[in-house]
Amino acid sequence: MAIDPRAEQAFGSEAEAYERHRPGWPGEAVARALGCLGLGPESEVVDLAAGTGKLTRELIPLVGRVIAVEPSADMRRALAAAVPAAETLDGTAETIPLPDSSVDGLFAAEAFHWFATREAVAEIARVVRPGGGVALLWNMHQLGGDPWQAEAFATLGEIGAPAPGQLGRHELERWGQAFEGAPFDSFEEFSVPHEQRTDVPGLVEHILTWSHLRVLDDAKRDELRRELLSVLEREHPSPGDVVISYRARLYCARRTRGART
Ligand SMILES: C[S@@+](CC[C@H](N)C(=O)[O-])C[C@H]1O[C@@H](n2cnc3c(N)ncnc32)[C@H](O)[C@@H]1O
Repeated sequence: MAIDPRAEQAFGSEAEAYERHRPGWPGEAVARALGCLGLGPESEVVDLAAGTGKLTRELIPLVGRVIAVEPSADMRRALAAAVPAAETLDGTAETIPLPDSSVDGLFAAEAFHWFATREAVAEIARVVRPGGGVALLWNMHQLGGDPWQAEAFATLGEIGAPAPGQLGRHELERWGQAFEGAPFDSFEEFSVPHEQRTDVPGLVEHILTWSHLRVLDDAKRDELRRELLSVLEREHPSPGDVVISYRARLYCARRTRGART
């Protein structure tokens, strides 16, 4: 299967915005994922759906080899600029361009929901060595119900867009089905709080990177940008110092040592 066309449209043409306005991954979350899978300085890992390399750059100093696999050429260009040390391949979750049992770990950060299929899981199981493992990560917004959030979400609601808490893409029940019967042990779950600091224009650009908004046409996005700027400049208590709070949620599972799928 080729890259999901919604993902290509959502991320492919605006990799720079993604790089500037999306959060990274806290070191503690990455360290816990490596610890969970027993990975370290000698390990070879894949960062699948690496995007602009937000996780790749955290992995590089901690393991022996990181191969970033990413189908969007724009994302790969941004990754090469942001993480010049990265080794990058064109590929998808359904066709990972690596031999059987060739890596100790496979990471998919903010991405598995794009390819949560048995086909992709079988491909992941093919490339991960028995005894190695897989780690799936998502950054979940921590919404406090502040008045400025309610106003921003009301503005999104006017165009029929869901607030982040309503997206539910991280839920184990939903993506876990793709792993049913696959040669992995049960998933362990962790979460690590962290923050992204920006200002109101940065917060608005962050919101506009959400995939369900990036598919809007330019005129609609410009209108939404103007409305969000006006609402948030008025409602946010400190427009020059905006904190976006997250929990990085991690799910890790070891590849069983039995026969491959
Ligand atoms: C939200 S970005 C995540 C980027 C990065 N992992 C991070 O932590 O910021 C999702 C990425 O998934 C990629 N993608 C979408 N469909 C894919 C597929 N079928 N196989 C591999 N990557 C895919 C997109 O091109 C995009 O770069």
